[in-house]
Amino acid sequence: MSKEIHLIDKDFVPYISEEKILSRVKVLSSQIRADYGSNNVLFLSVLNGSFMFTSDLMKSMNGEVELSFIKLSSYEGTSTSGKVHELIGLNQNIQGRHIVILEDIVDTGLTVQRVITMLQMQNPLSIEVCTLLYKPEAFKGDTAPKYFGFKIPNKFVVGYGLDYDQLGRNFNEIYQLKD
Ligand code: XMP
Ligand code: MG
Repeated sequence: MSKEIHLIDKDFVPYISEEKILSRVKVLSSQIRADYGSNNVLFLSVLNGSFMFTSDLMKSMNGEVELSFIKLSSYEGTSTSGKVHELIGLNQNIQGRHIVILEDIVDTGLTVQRVITMLQMQNPLSIEVCTLLYKPEAFKGDTAPKYFGFKIPNKFVVGYGLDYDQLGRNFNEIYQLKD
């Protein structure tokens, strides 16, 4: 049994075990393979948080897949434009491709919506979202992610790629903020 962890000023309790994560990852990879059949899927993994989920999902996928890593960076624009968001790392043509975006967590959904909007400008054939964690109570988007590992309540979690102020990504299971 794993123990509580302490990061900076907060305590976290074990929430989703490695075993549970890996068994859901297997289900997700089978679902995706069944849905896309022999079509060539291009997975776009959104760094940094989804690196561990991406690794396990890829190890569980059968057949041919392609994988690229992308990142959403944001910087202050001029006062009229406000925050400017830029997609970095995408150095291939996605026109006519089936895209599956890999995320660690969909919370309000704003981040993944920005990624979708920017990818749509390049006319892919389809775009779906596969996220390990999904917080339906916090979600403000129109369409829920098609593939998700676990629906979780609106509470902060770390581990398995997810961070608290850049710490905690290394843990092989998911921890929830202690009350
Ligand atoms: P949304 O969907 O709200 O998510 O745009 C934005 C980003 O916030 C991070 N996030 C979390 N990170 N534990 C984390 O470690 C959490 O519980 C959590 N909720 C949101 C994450 O980087 C996501 O991409
Ligand atoms: Mg983060």
